[in-house]
Amino acid sequence: MGELIRMSHISKSYGRVQALDDVSLTVNESEIVGLLGDNGAGKSTLIKVLSGAVPLTSGDIFIRGTKVTLRGTTDAISQGIETIYQDSALVTQLSIARNLFLGREPLTGSKLFNRMDRAKMDAVARDLLKRVGITKNIPPGTPIGSLSGGERQAVAIARAMYFDSDLIILDEPTNNLGVAETQGVLRFVRGARDSGHSCIFIAHNIHHVFQVVDRIVVMRRGKVVADDIDPRTSTIEQVERVITGMDEMH
Ligand SMILES: Nc1ncnc2c1ncn2[C@@H]1O[C@H](COP(=O)(O)OP(=O)(O)OP(=O)(O)O)[C@@H](O)[C@H]1O
Ligand SMILES: [Mg+2]
Repeated sequence: MGELIRMSHISKSYGRVQALDDVSLTVNESEIVGLLGDNGAGKSTLIKVLSGAVPLTSGDIFIRGTKVTLRGTTDAISQGIETIYQDSALVTQLSIARNLFLGREPLTGSKLFNRMDRAKMDAVARDLLKRVGITKNIPPGTPIGSLSGGERQAVAIARAMYFDSDLIILDEPTNNLGVAETQGVLRFVRGARDSGHSCIFIAHNIHHVFQVVDRIVVMRRGKVVADDIDPRTSTIEQVERVITGMDEMH
């Protein structure tokens, strides 16, 4: 299993708030990493740095051993890093099909007089929705604004699948989701590993994390306090003690 991502000695301050304090994190190929920590621990900040959404104050990021500079989210996406938030970067007025291809639309016609290949976009959208577990027949022309939270999530996941991102980051993707939708997201994360993708999965529900990840990393107050917890040999109670800092008490 080769190393896909290495974040090395990353610090990030927002004015006087030090959100990240010398954080290092690696993600290997085909590995699902669960990132846990209490509110304000720095989880979202860490993945925002990795997804190019916020600049780091100091530290380095390597992708497959090569140092990269991420100036924005498009830089990260072009490097194969796709991030999915609960209300991800979907455009609510546009259709499912348009959102899937946003900025990467397939074209048809001659070079000079080309236009978006809507038939292809619709066909791909139909197929992808099925693959991410949406069994209800939702037409690809449906605007995102009229979908449920879980269905939107599925569209964002479908996009990451179609463009074959190496690393898919999910920041609390199961928040506000129903039981069936949550199971769909968890199934997707498991499937991502089987198809050779890597994931960083952030969730407050430790049970969900235990169900799908290979390794657990815990952050507390801007630092990584554990980076090699094996969910198969640890208990939820043990991990909770690491999250709250109770493990350091006597
Ligand atoms: N844009 C910002 N400006 C100022 N401070 C910020 C900003 N974003 C985050 N912070 C601060 O950085 C720290 C880490 O926040 P972060 O959102 O990374 O935590 P988190 O682990 O994702 O928490 P949660 O589980 O609640 O989502 C917090 O103290 C937070 O208040
Ligand atoms: Mg967060």
